[in-house]
Amino acid sequence: MSSDALDIPPCFVPVEKKGLFATFRTDKWWIQPLIMALILTTFGIYTIIVLLLEHGTIGSIENDYIYYSENGAHYVSPISSPGPNALPSELLSAWPLPATLLFIWAPLGFRGTCYYGRRVFYRSLLANPAGCAVDKPIKSYNGENGFPFIIMNSHRYFLYLAIILAILHWYHAFESYFFGDSIGFGFGSFILTIDALFLTLYVSSCHSLRNLIGGNVDCISCTNYVKKKGNSWINYLNQHHGLYFWISLVTIMAADFYIRIYLGLLGNEEIFQWVM
Ligand code: FES
Repeated sequence: MSSDALDIPPCFVPVEKKGLFATFRTDKWWIQPLIMALILTTFGIYTIIVLLLEHGTIGSIENDYIYYSENGAHYVSPISSPGPNALPSELLSAWPLPATLLFIWAPLGFRGTCYYGRRVFYRSLLANPAGCAVDKPIKSYNGENGFPFIIMNSHRYFLYLAIILAILHWYHAFESYFFGDSIGFGFGSFILTIDALFLTLYVSSCHSLRNLIGGNVDCISCTNYVKKKGNSWINYLNQHHGLYFWISLVTIMAADFYIRIYLGLLGNEEIFQWVM
């Protein structure tokens, strides 16, 4: 039985089949969660490789967080930003694990508790459910009221950290335009700027930030949303939050790959560079 036959949207197709992924849906509902799972898995594997590289488990590179070139280029790998260089070397030398682990919990916590991210994780990684009207493996899920899912309610606090992170990414993008005593522009500058831009769009479109800026939420008719007190920009950005989630995930991975692997580990030349 198709949803067309029922003349109702797919989400209202009843779940009558039992078993993992069992459904009466006839559309390609599995494509979206599959693509999401592939991107998330790629990001997870890449991040683990970064940590293993830093730990010296696979190879060793001299400048693993910051790429310096002979002509003064200075690019910070975004996954290690804020970088381990922000800490005293005595503290770092006493820390036996990859230094990025000291910081990475903040951006991962922000993404992991993201309202849009939860939908993505639950659908694509937990398959719970993988789609509307698709049977799910975990029947006991009872919302985010108990451990471990209650941790998701900490998202607002991760937002405060993410705002600092976005500022730091802009700082690293800014300093990438300086080549020693000269000003210039390389592919690293370009990709770090794109990373900072989409991270900012992702953070700026956050539901928690929209809620904060809306204000006075105990009285819906009094909120700034209703009064339209200059927060229309965040309403606009918020509508595209999911898009920024994905683009910023891909751009941070691409920027990190270019700086850490392409330039740092493999020792390639910049794709292009212009210095005054
Ligand atoms: S809701 Fe997605 S980052 Fe806040």
